[in-house]
Amino acid sequence: MCGIVGAIRSQGPVLRGLVEGLRVLEYRGYDSSGVAVVLPGGIQIAKRQGRLENLEAVLQDGALEAASAGIGHTRWATHGEPSDRNAHPHRGASGKVAIVHNGIIENYLPLKNELLEAGVTFESDTDTEVLAHMVDREFARTGDLSAAVRAALARVQGYYAMVAVAVGDAGSMMVCARQGPPLAVAWSEDGAYLASDVLPLLPYSNQVTFLEDGDMAVMQPGSVTITDFSGNPVTRTSREIEWDPEDAGKGHYPHYMLKEIHEQPGVIARTLEGRLDEKAGDVVFENDQLQDAFLADISRVQVVACGTALHAGYIASYLIEGLARVPVDVEFASEFRYRDPIIVPGTVALAISQSGETADTLAATRLAKAKGARVISICNVPGSSQVRESDQVILTRGGPEIGVASTKAFTAQVVAAVLLAIRIGRAKGTLSADDARGLLVELRMLRNQLEELLSENMRTHIKDLARRHAAAKGFLFIGRGVNYPVALEGALKLKEISYMHAEGYAAGEMKHGPIALIDPGMTVVAVNSIGRVADKVRANIEQVKSRGGETVSVGSDPESHEIAGQSIKVPACSEWLSPILNTVPLQLLSYYIADLRGCDIDKPRNLAKSVTVE
Ligand code: F6R
Repeated sequence: MCGIVGAIRSQGPVLRGLVEGLRVLEYRGYDSSGVAVVLPGGIQIAKRQGRLENLEAVLQDGALEAASAGIGHTRWATHGEPSDRNAHPHRGASGKVAIVHNGIIENYLPLKNELLEAGVTFESDTDTEVLAHMVDREFARTGDLSAAVRAALARVQGYYAMVAVAVGDAGSMMVCARQGPPLAVAWSEDGAYLASDVLPLLPYSNQVTFLEDGDMAVMQPGSVTITDFSGNPVTRTSREIEWDPEDAGKGHYPHYMLKEIHEQPGVIARTLEGRLDEKAGDVVFENDQLQDAFLADISRVQVVACGTALHAGYIASYLIEGLARVPVDVEFASEFRYRDPIIVPGTVALAISQSGETADTLAATRLAKAKGARVISICNVPGSSQVRESDQVILTRGGPEIGVASTKAFTAQVVAAVLLAIRIGRAKGTLSADDARGLLVELRMLRNQLEELLSENMRTHIKDLARRHAAAKGFLFIGRGVNYPVALEGALKLKEISYMHAEGYAAGEMKHGPIALIDPGMTVVAVNSIGRVADKVRANIEQVKSRGGETVSVGSDPESHEIAGQSIKVPACSEWLSPILNTVPLQLLSYYIADLRGCDIDKPRNLAKSVTVE
């Protein structure tokens, strides 16, 4: 989705920092990019369709280099095709105001007609340009950028994160506002910076302030003043972001996805750090989160999430029902938000999200809350909207996830779900301290087991399998019980980065339809670990084999490996934790297949990392 950066400094150029900020945001997906900077002669804009390199080529003449205030944008087209003219920033007729914007101005048509009638000419097909002209006209009247933004936003319906930069008698001015998509600000002694994501802010400060819906911020070198849309001051606390700006790099890996797959042992260890109380046979969360008083009267859990996070939610449902004996429903956030869901007393909404900014998940959470549910979030981004709007939070400590295909966030979400299930089970007395202790011991073993799964031998073996199957007609991933969602995740990973057709299915459902797909061109990956349904999945593998399908078994069940013929052997562990280990080889298999097929792994077509609009 679109990305925003902005910087205003008392002295010193901002252009390089803006472009680097846009580079850090590239992972979110975009089709054009641009910058607007304030120079003595007025506002100058450079923008280009396509990759950031196209914009950099235009900037090479150094003409915009000296500016000490500017804004930048990576656009994901909504109104108007991807093109140079539709790329942001957009300027008003006076040439003194430029704007970037994420989100949608829903009533842009009547507003545009009004401006057309007043003689304004438009250079683009975007809704954003309407906003640029509105702010520009007010600014021309009063010379007050905050007042101009306020007046324009008072007439706008929709959801947006927007930034306006202007040049007036007193020099450069910058104002931003949020009503929906995320926006964060930070400042240093001689500068103030804003971005739609914390990553571009980290080179300047690790103290970041997130704007809330309905907030405006006036950016000045060394300070940021936050008000509501009427201009009344509001207080927002800044948060320390412990991420290292280096984490946003690829290191020695060819792709972010491969780097992030390899980070999993460390991420899981960090997600467990300080949370396992083996003596008490319990889990302890920092900052008094998820205490007995909050958990004891939960009668039902409603998981809401999207995509990969939803698959973690399915696994959470097995864990919470199995260990804590609380009924759990799981639903796509995009469906939940448009139903009229029944929230019985004692319901907790469990929202799972890597970014904490997914529009559907946020809307579903808000609906559940409005109907009386309390909210627990599992989230990877401290300070994100999801975190701020939840009653209780488990942070997954994964560090920035840049690859569009979620990997480390997923396994960390599942680990967080295990911790949550243990904690609810202990609070409700359905899980004994001894049983909990057994799981805690196994959780501690995960780091080494994950390292084993990422060893060179294992990688070579999975690469060989990838070569054998990269030209398959299609893939079916099957699993049962707590590993059924792993099959869904395996299929999603493969389809999103390799563009191969892949489906995830509950293995027991094969005979009700999908088995008709089996022939020698079809690869069936069966996820099966030692546990309650292992013998059932073995029988499903036999059914596929007898119909000529190619079978690969993934998991800790030795008999499945023998039946399937091809296998990826995963270390044995508690059935409850097996999804964490079984997922990793599937991530590698997808990665190597996509690589063999020459796909753009970190930026798969049509996908954006964080879906902040509907
Ligand atoms: C798939 C993937 C997506 C996200 C989904 C939710 O690899 O990354 O399916 O899981 O868009 O995003 P978050 O977790 O940020 O809410």
